[in-house]
Amino acid sequence: MSKVPEEGGCPKDNFHLKPPTGTKRRTWGLVVTGVVGGSLLAVYAVTTPFITPALRRVCLPFVPATSTQIENVLKMLHSRSGSVVDIGSGDGRIVIAAAKEGFQAVGFELNPWLVWYSRYRAWREGVHHNTSFFMLDLWKVSFSQYTNVVIFGVPQMMLPLEKKLQTELQDNTRVIACRFPFPHWIPNHSTGEGVDTVWIYDSQTFKKANRECLKPTKGHAVGH
Ligand SMILES: C[S@@+](CC[C@H](N)C(=O)[O-])C[C@H]1O[C@@H](n2cnc3c(N)ncnc32)[C@H](O)[C@@H]1O
Ligand SMILES: *[C@@H]1O[C@H](CO)[C@@H](O)[C@H](O)[C@H]1NC(C)=O
Ligand SMILES: *[C@@H]1O[C@H](CO)[C@@H](O)[C@H](O)[C@H]1NC(C)=O
Repeated sequence: MSKVPEEGGCPKDNFHLKPPTGTKRRTWGLVVTGVVGGSLLAVYAVTTPFITPALRRVCLPFVPATSTQIENVLKMLHSRSGSVVDIGSGDGRIVIAAAKEGFQAVGFELNPWLVWYSRYRAWREGVHHNTSFFMLDLWKVSFSQYTNVVIFGVPQMMLPLEKKLQTELQDNTRVIACRFPFPHWIPNHSTGEGVDTVWIYDSQTFKKANRECLKPTKGHAVGH
């Protein structure tokens, strides 16, 4: 085993060996490489958080709500009070709109770029005291403390989310689903059409339905 010192291959030494005439061209080459490389890195940094959710258990890409969808959500929050949470808050548009209506509004979002952008937007729109954005995985937190829950997810996640919310939400909570309804719950109301459709579910309804499902039916011999 021989320990050959690597200093001989040090780029600094090579630099001194370069003919002075080539330096300018090389500098430009480095600048171009740097700009191209930097741009690629920026594109990579921005897109990776959008792509990686596809590799997670349930894919939930960033598709922002339309203004009609936001209007429909606000309509469904009318006559409600307390807090609003948007599960997968994206660029914070629903959270900010709810804060402007007087709610304490909270967003959970996995993509750090979107979280920082949401905080900036909330500050710019003057509602940063009425909003909070958390960089957290929606499957790892509880939503039990919120009185209104908004979700704009993807079809595959609605079943596991239905189960999660059913066990953790309190009795006076309203759940608002955008674009994709929950598979089993019966909505109390819906509004809008096409991709802008919004469904509301009052937790008394789905909690009661669940209790009735668990109750043994009268007059039937259950259990073998
Ligand atoms: C369909 S977008 C909806 C964005 C926003 N609610 C709106 O309506 O404009 C869903 C968002 O959920 C985020 N997301 C995906 N998986 C998540 C997870 N496990 N925890 C928290 N957020 C997640 C995505 O990054 C994406 O921004
Ligand atoms: C934000 O919250 C403060 C109290 O923390 C309240 O005075 C103010 O009216 C709220 N803003 C909006 C737009 O509701
Ligand atoms: C929601 O609908 C159910 C019946 O489907 C009803 O019992 C419940 O009172 C409704 N909730 C509200 C808040 O209207």
